[in-house]
Amino acid sequence: MSQNRTVAVIVGSLSKDSVNRKVAKAIAALAPANLTFTEVAIGDLAFYNPDIESEAPAPWTTFREAIKAADAVLVVTPEYNRTMTAVLKNAIDVGSRPWGHSIWAGKPGAIVSASPGGVGGFGANHNARQALGALGVAILPFEAYVGAAHTLFNEAGELTNDASKAFLGELGLKFADWIERNAAK
Ligand code: FNR
Repeated sequence: MSQNRTVAVIVGSLSKDSVNRKVAKAIAALAPANLTFTEVAIGDLAFYNPDIESEAPAPWTTFREAIKAADAVLVVTPEYNRTMTAVLKNAIDVGSRPWGHSIWAGKPGAIVSASPGGVGGFGANHNARQALGALGVAILPFEAYVGAAHTLFNEAGELTNDASKAFLGELGLKFADWIERNAAK
């Protein structure tokens, strides 16, 4: 029997109707029951500026503590102009400082991208992998690009596409196993 594990979810979109958030919710619903997923908001993080680190804004601290406390992190992001979104990059930067106190090193993570386009946010996905990989996140070796994402959900935001259910369910299973193997003991 696997241990209960907490997963911090970061959605790289500020849109209230974000299709990436729907994907994140679908992953959570399909994943093994020992994983509990909670979104950690990033929209109120001030742009990272080392000059204000000595009086860090409260949302920076809240964000850092929430990621630190989680066993793993799931990033689900749109692609903006072939990279991850600025809000996601800012959150990654905030978590990486102050120097020597990064919240990322050794954390098991999965990266998913979703887009209405056919390429499924490939550029954003790999851009996020570059940053989080450099910061020492143990990134699940599973490629997850969700294309035509707007066609996969009903009006209630539920995933209705069977192939996507199977794919995101497989991702959840692999992620649960990955967390078990990489979580801090
Ligand atoms: C986009 N979009 C987009 N899509 C894509 O596949 N590749 C891209 O490079 C871009 N670039 C881009 C730039 C900007 C500024 C915006 C606002 C949008 C479209 C994007 O994928 C679409 O709006 C998604 O619905 C965004 O995801 P959420 O917010 O619905 O999760």
